Amino acid sequence: MTLINQAFKGTNGRKPVWLMRQAGRYLPAYQATRKQAGSFFGLCDTPNLAAEVTLQPIRQFNFDAAIIFSDILVIPRAMGVDVKFTDGEGPSLSLIKNEEDIANLSTHHVLQKTAPTLEALKLVRASLDPEKELIGFCGAPWTIAMYMMEKSPAKGALNLGALYYTNPKAFKALQSKIVEASASYLCAQIEAGAGCLQIFDSWAGQAPHGLFKEGVETPLLDLCKKVKEKHPEVPLIIFPRAVGEEKLKHLASQHLNVFDGMGLDYCTNVKWALENLPKSLLLQGNLDPSLLLSTPQNVEKEVKNLLEITRNRPNFIVNLGHGITPAAKVENVAALAAKCLLG
Ligand code: CP3
Repeated sequence: MTLINQAFKGTNGRKPVWLMRQAGRYLPAYQATRKQAGSFFGLCDTPNLAAEVTLQPIRQFNFDAAIIFSDILVIPRAMGVDVKFTDGEGPSLSLIKNEEDIANLSTHHVLQKTAPTLEALKLVRASLDPEKELIGFCGAPWTIAMYMMEKSPAKGALNLGALYYTNPKAFKALQSKIVEASASYLCAQIEAGAGCLQIFDSWAGQAPHGLFKEGVETPLLDLCKKVKEKHPEVPLIIFPRAVGEEKLKHLASQHLNVFDGMGLDYCTNVKWALENLPKSLLLQGNLDPSLLLSTPQNVEKEVKNLLEITRNRPNFIVNLGHGITPAAKVENVAALAAKCLLG
């Protein structure tokens, strides 16, 4: 059994560690493979290269889990949305505007269109140490809907909010299509070798309070339930970013038989989470990604502090409170891993 799996049961010796976006541009080895692939989606869609970049951070830092190299935007792409990545600018999507665009989204070819990622999962599982976990992932329905409707999700849920108020039926149809596509994708990832899943709700914090229940919570929990129905034994981690303590507590209160772990973002006070969220829920997080732009001494001090605070909570995974950025220094990532692995 992997250390990550043991952590969900609370039977682990030390706390496992992996980092969100651990494969990426901060790593020279990634840069080289990315160049060979020619484009970001070229890398995602070439199974042996995707497997290679998935394994690079494991070889280099000995993390307890590999996260399959892909992107949350492969799901809108598989549903028929045009998704482009321009270097240095981030993603740009052909935005969905109305009920007709929603009706045209397809959920029928998702597994066919994500086949390279499913193949990469098989390749990684075959060469990964059996004691290491392989994590599969997707975006949460709210976050995917944000990318489908907003040019700049960071600026808020204007179009998605307007759809909710003017055409609730179309809003619901959009959500159910995303839930259906994502559930079949997550189940296929398990069948291809993923032993743990994370659902990234990176823009959950942009949901207006009045839309939270119907826009964020219900479709997220529906997605979890669909996967649990088929694969109850596979741990599911949700990452509802920037929603605040009240909503974290509310989501956590519904975890039993729905999800198993919760990723905490870097704004959350871990001490609050340890005291206020159910003991049966695995917590994950939440080091500040900006630490990785500082020095190994700072990193070691903060990891030590986190391990100290969480010492009585076996079901805890050390991670960042959001993804690694390209400016992270390799020596700081190495210091983080070493402090967790060697003490
Ligand atoms: O964690 C891992 O190592 C696995 C790979 C992974 C990527 N994206 C690779 C990637 C994962 C888990 C993601 C998830 C993802 N993608 C999220 C959720 C996590 C989060 O950060 O909130 C989101 C919101 C996206 C969407 C996305 N993909 C954006 C906004 C961008 C552009 C910004 C950026 O970081 O460049 C991407 C591109 C992307 N996804 C890159 C990588 C390594 C960089 C592109 C490149 O190498 O050319």
